[in-house]
Amino acid sequence: MSKSKPQLEGEVYYPSNEVVEQARLKDWDEMAEKARKDPQAFWAAEAEELEWFKKWDQVLDDSKKPFFKWFVGAKTNIVHNAIDRHLKTYRKNKLALVWESEDGKTERTFSYFLLNREVSRMANIIKAMGVNKGDRVTIYMGRIPEIAFAMLACAKIGAIHSVVFGGFSVDALQGRIDDSQSKLVITCDGAFQNGKIVELKRTVDEAVKRCPSVENVIVVKRVGHEVPMEVSRDHWYHDLCALPIANGKCATEVMDAEDPLYILYTSGSTGRPKAILHTHGGYMVGTYTTLKYVFDINDEDRYWCAADPGWVTGHSYIVYGPMLNGATSFMSEAGPSYPYPNRIWQQVERYGIRILYMAPTAIRGLMRFGEAWPNKHDLSSLRLLGSVGEPINPEAWKWYYRVIGKEKCPIMDTWWQTETGMFMITPTPTVPLKPGSGTRPFFGQEAEVLDEAGKPVADDTEGYLVLKNPWPAMLRTIYGDPDRYVNQYWSKYPGKYLTGDSAKRDRDGYFWIIGRADDVIKVSGHRLGTAEIESALVSHHAVAEAAAIGLPHEVKGQAIHTFVLLRSGFEASPELAEELRQHVATHMGPIARPEDVKFVDKLPKTRSGKIMRRVLKARAQGLPEGDVSTLDE
Ligand code: WT7
Repeated sequence: MSKSKPQLEGEVYYPSNEVVEQARLKDWDEMAEKARKDPQAFWAAEAEELEWFKKWDQVLDDSKKPFFKWFVGAKTNIVHNAIDRHLKTYRKNKLALVWESEDGKTERTFSYFLLNREVSRMANIIKAMGVNKGDRVTIYMGRIPEIAFAMLACAKIGAIHSVVFGGFSVDALQGRIDDSQSKLVITCDGAFQNGKIVELKRTVDEAVKRCPSVENVIVVKRVGHEVPMEVSRDHWYHDLCALPIANGKCATEVMDAEDPLYILYTSGSTGRPKAILHTHGGYMVGTYTTLKYVFDINDEDRYWCAADPGWVTGHSYIVYGPMLNGATSFMSEAGPSYPYPNRIWQQVERYGIRILYMAPTAIRGLMRFGEAWPNKHDLSSLRLLGSVGEPINPEAWKWYYRVIGKEKCPIMDTWWQTETGMFMITPTPTVPLKPGSGTRPFFGQEAEVLDEAGKPVADDTEGYLVLKNPWPAMLRTIYGDPDRYVNQYWSKYPGKYLTGDSAKRDRDGYFWIIGRADDVIKVSGHRLGTAEIESALVSHHAVAEAAAIGLPHEVKGQAIHTFVLLRSGFEASPELAEELRQHVATHMGPIARPEDVKFVDKLPKTRSGKIMRRVLKARAQGLPEGDVSTLDE
């Protein structure tokens, strides 16, 4: 128990003596207070732990806000800190990455030395293909080590990577390649998913047909089946590796701290996905620091973030964060319950995982299979657990805590976003926990819950969650659309970052995320915009108008429900409903497949013609419709 046990309200889990003894940071309050008084000094001290080719002249430049700049004037490269600097120490021979294939038969391990060799080789190749500093490269791959090599290789030479999740379809991929004007696409012949093959290369072929910016496609062989190769555009990675230019040293490019590192597309409330831009310097300091304090990585720990590398969680906490900390990161090609519901627990035992970080949807899914599956395995290596992507319901939290963590592993419920780049509301291991709350803002940050007018609401009252202070890993802009960056995040409450979430704060200052306050649906933790789903539906010849909403779902958190108005001459039928569900999946990817399609004669709209999804949602759940004074009916 910590020195003076604070009296907190509700159901509270205090850290054990053992947890406190093991923790790197014993006194949260002291650090929080120091960072609160001088956030820039806090971040500068953290940045000092990393290596810079040239130190900064200024920690934060807020003269052109909301276009903030961090570590102004500094020179670095995130790869220098994630790989190069470890090669000068004992970490050279330490495992950086451990990977297991979906069939469980192949294991690949890379020390930092070998990681450097792999990344340098890929960097030499992409450079030889004419990719220069600042050029964009789209990466569309499965969960294999080469996806990490590709990201790091781009960063090493100063190219901007844009990873597109392997579950996205042709249209989604094409839109993202085109928007980023990528010169190069790195993909695989295919990816394994639950014993089946996902045709990544064929999807790339379709997408690239309509993307004139793409000059080359690199194909990593993974599944080994035949794929068409376009002469002069497509190249097998293993053939390129055999070329003399591939081997030998590759210099790590000197980057300005504010130079772009990557873009990552994410859904917003309106319009097309937004390209969130992150930079070398601030993002590096932010992911390094948060992972160090929150998951308290020690040298002997084996850490596993079971997310997909294609999402921000994978970027920050499978690839960059762990490597910046010189940690050993585990990556599994398989999903958590393939081929049996014990897969994840088997891997925890087999690889001696000490820190396990996963999504509530996966926890709920595994919970359904019962305790017998985890109980078959020795999970005693676990020290810390983590949760991310959506609110974790207290029931799932307690199951995770009791059955997996054996009541000795604190759960780090980390609230953050693609935009924030790093954890924003999160405990550290010694913070007393309340199931379902991410506790309090990370060091140097302050959050608030506001009403429509921008006034802080009373305790335990729902409102808009905002962040008050700039932070190093914050998005710098929406790539190619700075106005949208300002409008989306900084206009509703000038000077404050609008998260898009609704939340409550309790009397102890703990935050409780309720969900998205905008038209974003979280399906199994994946972020989807209603506007994208609706335009996919409307692109079908039978559909005149459509609305999409998210409704609670036991395992997925939220599921997509759609309402469709048909064009005249078309008749509602179960077959057409099925066809429309498939149509959305084909356009966007299987994760966007609606749970159901309801045919309606009319959609509730405001007098100005905006669909009132709020009303649809209330009606579907039999709840009061709220203020409908603007409804045009
Ligand atoms: C949205 C951001 C952050 C990496 C994965 C998702 C929701 C995220 C939590 C959490 C409650 C959470 C929010 C947020 N969310 N983590 N611990 N508790 N809600 O990144 O796809 O950009 O989604 O995910 O609604 O706004 P993302």
